[in-house]
Amino acid sequence: MTNAYKIIDHQYDVVVVGAGGAGLRATLGMCATGLKTACISKVFPTRSHTVAAQGGISAALGNLDEDNWRFHMYDTVKGADWLGDQDAIEYMCRHAIPAVLELEKFGVPFSRTEDGKIYQRQFGGHTKNYGKEMARRACAAADRTGHAILHTLYQQCLKHKAEFFVEYFALDLIFDENGKCCGVMTWNLEDGTIHRFQAHMVVLATGGHGRTFFSCTGAHTCTGDGNGMILRAGLPLQDMEFIQFHPTGIYGAGCLISEGARGEGGYLTNSKGERFMEKYAPNAKDLASRDVVSRAITIEVNEGRGVGEHKDHAWLHLEHLDPAVLQERLPGISETAKVFGGVDVTKEPIPVVPTVHYNMGGIPTNYHGEVICPTAENPDAVAPGLMSIGEAACVSVHGANRLGTNSLVDLVVFGRAAALRAKELIKPNTAHPKLKANAGEEALAKLDRIRHSKGTTPTSEVRLDMQKTMQKYCSVFRTQEILDKGCQEIDRVAKRFGDVRIADKSMIWNTDLMETLELENLLGQSVVTMHSAAKREESRGAHARDDFPDRDDKKWMKHTVSWMDSQNKVKLSYRPVHTHTLTDEVEYIKPQKRVY
Ligand code: FUM
Repeated sequence: MTNAYKIIDHQYDVVVVGAGGAGLRATLGMCATGLKTACISKVFPTRSHTVAAQGGISAALGNLDEDNWRFHMYDTVKGADWLGDQDAIEYMCRHAIPAVLELEKFGVPFSRTEDGKIYQRQFGGHTKNYGKEMARRACAAADRTGHAILHTLYQQCLKHKAEFFVEYFALDLIFDENGKCCGVMTWNLEDGTIHRFQAHMVVLATGGHGRTFFSCTGAHTCTGDGNGMILRAGLPLQDMEFIQFHPTGIYGAGCLISEGARGEGGYLTNSKGERFMEKYAPNAKDLASRDVVSRAITIEVNEGRGVGEHKDHAWLHLEHLDPAVLQERLPGISETAKVFGGVDVTKEPIPVVPTVHYNMGGIPTNYHGEVICPTAENPDAVAPGLMSIGEAACVSVHGANRLGTNSLVDLVVFGRAAALRAKELIKPNTAHPKLKANAGEEALAKLDRIRHSKGTTPTSEVRLDMQKTMQKYCSVFRTQEILDKGCQEIDRVAKRFGDVRIADKSMIWNTDLMETLELENLLGQSVVTMHSAAKREESRGAHARDDFPDRDDKKWMKHTVSWMDSQNKVKLSYRPVHTHTLTDEVEYIKPQKRVY
């Protein structure tokens, strides 16, 4: 190594990057099968963004009504607007049931029914009998379900003696001469040392990239660092144009008001006091799928029926609900509405607006969590030594639009699946091949370049430019004209990265440097998102085009695969959606018109 950094080497069977729900479930599973596992996280595990998940985790337990995992599968395929891979969706919906029961045994403090079962509430797009009636499928711990799950999984990891490297920032992946991923370079934020982790398997569980946008429900830390590393490694991302807007972010603050609020009986109105969802989704109304409700609010605002001084949002009413229900089932959002919206939910409606919430796209994987790098011969070719799970990944169970509560179940089902696959692939304590002498050198050279850059623009200025560009040109409704302009603009912003200025050169708790590395990750994802969106000439799920209002299954029932070269130039290719199921216990669900 030619640089001045002190490098500390580590060897593990498996390294998991990220300690949210997916990372912790995988870490736990790997440790339980005897694999020597390290979990690396840039934040303390229980501060990972899973902690913010509110309304529930879906599983067809049928505690309050009849339910069946096949109904869950049907809803997920329809919610995904037929862009989801049906083998993966079958796997998730079937395994959701034991996964939630396992969480219960691990100690998750679920809310309870009168007779002591896990409480389940209604959520958008959850139905029984294939769309005929609304189902109660969201298993809830009040409105703090993610918090309850994350803390429980962390405790289970400690019980299984998982090794945590906390406040370590992942810089880049390391590959051997055959292109197999064999580790990751990291920076210990606390003391400035560099740690090189060698592993038989690296699992990226680094979450979503909500912070590419100006207004999002995601934390400041939601920067999709794993996705950034993937693009720099010359591997692709998938379906990045599908960005979910949650219908009810608090106006002005962006904080999430759970869909569980509507699941408990809340409803939306416009400036005329109309319950406008009846018009857009006559059956499901306020509990239609998220993309449908977000578009409805946007149309109401665009047509002059928005509320408030600027007529640019909607009201969410909970004041008609029994205060005891609000206290027991929705205590978190009652507090959030008070603190961030200045609203007493027992007396007045909450001002809400669609806000970026989830990334359906990410690192392509199969249902074992193995990363896919499609080739001309094999669209499902596996990239050896690499897995991805959770919001970082695109497995793809959410397709073009995720159903509420399917994110938490995705985390635990595929976190577990990754551990099962790793058990098949790796014998515990297998010796590691010798690393190339210069392994990780490029990552450190880049770190040096950024740290000592002679630029003049503060990182925060470029980040704001990126976020406003994404918000303006890649929003709820899109057109070719807007997206083409968006491509020019986001390419311009990406170039500004070459001129960032790092005021602080130190390696110890240098948040300026860390935010700049996060910005590099965000920019790559923003660029591929905008270019992927500009090419998809149809409306499907969260990708709504005014100029192509219909879904076009003939031309576009395929995943967008986006690659980026070192000059930030995007190359797009496509791979088929999986139209087969895993078993013959369920049939392929053929595309239908998507109405709620
Ligand atoms: O609305 C919510 O509680 C969010 C849940 C989810 O995104 O799954």
